[in-house]
Amino acid sequence: DNGSQRSAKKCTPQSDPNGMVNILLKLEELFGQAIEQAFPDVKGFQVVVVPTTPNFGDYQFNGAMSLSKLLRTLGKSLNPREVAGVIKESVPSNSVIDTLELAGPGYINIRLKASFVQEQLGLLLTRGVRPPCGVEKKRVIVDFSSPNIAKEMHVGHLRSTIIGDSICRLLEFLGHDVVRMNHVGDWGTQFGMLLAHLEDRFPNFAEETPPIGDLQSFYKESKIRFDSDADFKKRAYACVVKLQSHDPVYIKGWQAICDVSRREFQKIYDRLDIKIKERGESFYQDLMKKTVALLEEAGVLKEDDGRKVMFAPGIAVPLTIVKSDGGYTYDTSDMAAIRQRIHDEKADWVIYVVDLGQAGHFETIFACAEVAGWLDRKKTRVEHVGFGVVLGEDKKKFKSRSSETVRLVDLLDEGLRRAKEKLIEKERDKILTPEELESAQNAVAYGCVKYSDLAHNRNGDYVFSFDKMLEDKGNTAVYLLYAYTRIRSIARTANITDEQIKKAVADGIPLGHEKEMKLAKLLLRFPETIVRLTVDLFLHPLCEYLYEVSTVFTEFYDVCYCVEKDRTTGQIVHINMDRMALCEATANVMAQCFSLLGLKTVQKM
Ligand code: ARG
Repeated sequence: DNGSQRSAKKCTPQSDPNGMVNILLKLEELFGQAIEQAFPDVKGFQVVVVPTTPNFGDYQFNGAMSLSKLLRTLGKSLNPREVAGVIKESVPSNSVIDTLELAGPGYINIRLKASFVQEQLGLLLTRGVRPPCGVEKKRVIVDFSSPNIAKEMHVGHLRSTIIGDSICRLLEFLGHDVVRMNHVGDWGTQFGMLLAHLEDRFPNFAEETPPIGDLQSFYKESKIRFDSDADFKKRAYACVVKLQSHDPVYIKGWQAICDVSRREFQKIYDRLDIKIKERGESFYQDLMKKTVALLEEAGVLKEDDGRKVMFAPGIAVPLTIVKSDGGYTYDTSDMAAIRQRIHDEKADWVIYVVDLGQAGHFETIFACAEVAGWLDRKKTRVEHVGFGVVLGEDKKKFKSRSSETVRLVDLLDEGLRRAKEKLIEKERDKILTPEELESAQNAVAYGCVKYSDLAHNRNGDYVFSFDKMLEDKGNTAVYLLYAYTRIRSIARTANITDEQIKKAVADGIPLGHEKEMKLAKLLLRFPETIVRLTVDLFLHPLCEYLYEVSTVFTEFYDVCYCVEKDRTTGQIVHINMDRMALCEATANVMAQCFSLLGLKTVQKM
């Protein structure tokens, strides 16, 4: 896909009176109509319009080359420039486009009408930053975070949590029906050894909640016994059987262990402001039986050394559906889950935010779900949103000094400490009240961890470095949060009211200066930017957009006076209300970007 806005319905005032206009989509519609009119024989041509550099215009249509080839197959011989010329003349009259200009071998450069930009900017200010119109609403399940009970929630889960949350925020803003799902690993064989260990350490665990403070060491102790003590190992297997047959005593023990984990996970979610609903592997216990039965019936399972496996066409490694001891696996639970999500939850779109190490697993799950007839990719969109591993500053897999994996709570604590240092280094403690300083500290600490994850292409491995994250120059959370508070403070120091802004809008904002116009056009690209994100669920383009907004704002602010002060007295002598409105619009768009990325903003910093 090359950037066109897939699966969009028409963006007309009738279809969505409150939505922001997606300008790029609007232009694609106009060019689609032009092609239909000029070349009625051409069917299903995918119109693509892209933003371009200001030298050429605002947007560009560059489909004339492929269209010329297509026409040749239909017996019409026109070179790309001729094709572009015909299209240019066929674009229906509209209120959006000012000029169309042929360029090069067959490009059409598009410049927007100033009146259109003024009008849309006015709407942005009076109605707020709204979701774009033209989005077809879907029911989406986002499976993210998904740590394993009793095991460490590690930096990989942190990435899944941050990326998954931002995807949910984006899809929720676009108006989709989003289910945030925590597919925790709460039903594995690890519970055998945990429960056997529980029997020894807290024999009356069924009557009294066992006081397990540190589940990590509890897990480690039981693992050591499991690996070294044959009797213990036997008992562990027996415990799994008791648990899976729903023995109430063992269910109690299992619940107690899950509760301890859950409380630990919740601490991380609270700090990072993550909302998620838990529906772990245990939810699918009964469905797994049914799943296996359905697959047996369909005749798609093969015997392999006592196991029952399922192959997907073209994929060498099969899923293990039933182990030789009759037990189920991670594969079985994911087959049960995908069926449940499509059939019972009626999801139109299922997204799995899991590290790239599991790419093969999901590819096979999707392919097998198709073989089983549960998944029709024309109707349901399923995708694995992968991400690379987190590296330490030594470029090796991220670990703490003691070479154990880093505890997330400790990591976030370090973030808080480092954020405070940074703010004090910048002497913010001299200006801010203790409460303001604390809000800023939180915003910076959690903001920088999230932003540095989201600003990188998620497919890459990334180096976790507080030094880099906390830099106050370049595309970083610290820089952007500062830039944002500075813009907000312009209006605050000049005591501007909402009414004054509204009046400026009602009087019309001329955008006479070239830098004003440039900034306004960029702000109006917000809708197309976020819709584009849904094509491949990469979030770094949103960070790039946010950064561009802040740099283009600086270009504007450097040359366009908003508040004029007397040089000697410092008294305000003149306020340019149009420009204040532009500041307001910029801050509003930035705030919405922060919100989609899960970053908290502060008024003062
Ligand atoms: N608990 C798994 C892990 O930590 C991730 C689960 C992801 N979701 C899924 N439906 N398989 O590796």
